[in-house]
Amino acid sequence: MKVLVVGGGGREHALAWKAAQSPRVHRVFVAPGNAGTAREGKVENVALDAGDIEGLLAFARGEDVGLTIVGPEAPLVAGIADRFEAAGLRIFGPRARAAELEASKAFCKDFLARHGIPTAASRVFDDIGPALDYIESKGAPIVVKADGLTGGKGVVVAHSVGAAREAAAGMLARDLFGKAGRRVVVEEHLEGEEASFIAIVGGGKVLPLAPSQDHKALGEGDTGPNTGGMGAYSPAPIVDTETSERILHEVIEPTVRGLEAEGRAYTGFLYAGLMIDGHGAPRVLEYNCRGGDPETQPVMMRLRSDLVELCEAAIDARLDEAEARWDERAALGVVMAAEGYPGEYPGGEPVQLSLFNETDPASRSDETCLTKVFHAGTRLEGTQVLTAGGRVLCVCALGEDVRSAAALAYRRVESISWPHAYFRRDIGYRAVEREEEAARA
Ligand code: AMP
Ligand code: GLY
Repeated sequence: MKVLVVGGGGREHALAWKAAQSPRVHRVFVAPGNAGTAREGKVENVALDAGDIEGLLAFARGEDVGLTIVGPEAPLVAGIADRFEAAGLRIFGPRARAAELEASKAFCKDFLARHGIPTAASRVFDDIGPALDYIESKGAPIVVKADGLTGGKGVVVAHSVGAAREAAAGMLARDLFGKAGRRVVVEEHLEGEEASFIAIVGGGKVLPLAPSQDHKALGEGDTGPNTGGMGAYSPAPIVDTETSERILHEVIEPTVRGLEAEGRAYTGFLYAGLMIDGHGAPRVLEYNCRGGDPETQPVMMRLRSDLVELCEAAIDARLDEAEARWDERAALGVVMAAEGYPGEYPGGEPVQLSLFNETDPASRSDETCLTKVFHAGTRLEGTQVLTAGGRVLCVCALGEDVRSAAALAYRRVESISWPHAYFRRDIGYRAVEREEEAARA
């Protein structure tokens, strides 16, 4: 069968790479893809934008695509799944009404409250006056969030009342995020450690993927501005078996039931961004209607089951019969970005990807490789890879534990260069600290 992956980032490269490993798949198209997907076996880029729903639909029909997997949120929120389903095409991703969980933070907060799902206390504002009064009355730290999609830029964790007022004023009074910021959520600041819990959902059933954690901050020690994510790893030591069960029963399952009950039946990746407190209690920071980027990359490195089978089981409401098998090892991905990201950054720089010896690569097929460079913001000019985005690569490795996965990923990172590359050198540090604590105990 033929598969179409919609999107062109690191997450989509990982999804396309994994889908191409399915023995049932002979071709994977990626729209628009990147230099990494262009050079992947069985994979072909298609010059269509992820937002061009009609173009994608015509392409999928013309090529007799058997399954479309959607990477980014924007086409889902715009109704790509509704459109494909109405045309009788199989697509893995939620319809627009279900994707509202990510499209509107105010909707998400109300939904969580309606269904008794644990999250930070919050209030929603359309006007600056009441928002400022509320911020004054609550004090800092406090969190101000734009309601709509802002590509991850619309959340301000304010450590002073002044910073919170400034954030709310930027959104509600100065139109900093346009329509997305004309409504804001002001939220209690939660303490704890963050984790990402992504599940495959369909037919009211849930198949959890391996838990992961990402590093959203640009700087080492999780400092500086928020980005889309500078690195990620799986498993997440903070999510032990017991916490994982709690997340499933207290968060994911009631969410899926609630969506069904409200006529918003969900199919696709469902991503809960969680804060885990000192007792292992999860609370929802946000929902995304897609896989995480970069979390999807290390999670796909560990997935031993056929991704296409799992997506089809979700679409056919057979997830209770499906099983996700995991590599016991840890996987970790380091994002190599263009210097300046998430602000202004140069593009078009030539990337040197030298040959890399994994110690014994000769015996390894692509499926069992120890390292993998997933591309994000890259394009090909002839045979030369050029930078073409803020996050350029996600360099992943498997290892016996997070520490050894990190060591190998960084060895591979050191073999790659371009003039203005930036990456964090401490991806996975919390997990490594936990591993060291466990080894001492
Ligand atoms: P969100 O897009 O809502 O997940 O927010 C982006 C980031 O802001 C999260 O990954 C957290 O690091 C931080 N954040 C969001 N909400 C809160 C909160 N209520 N308390 C503490 N940190 C938060
Ligand atoms: N890594 C966070 C996200 O995908 O939203």
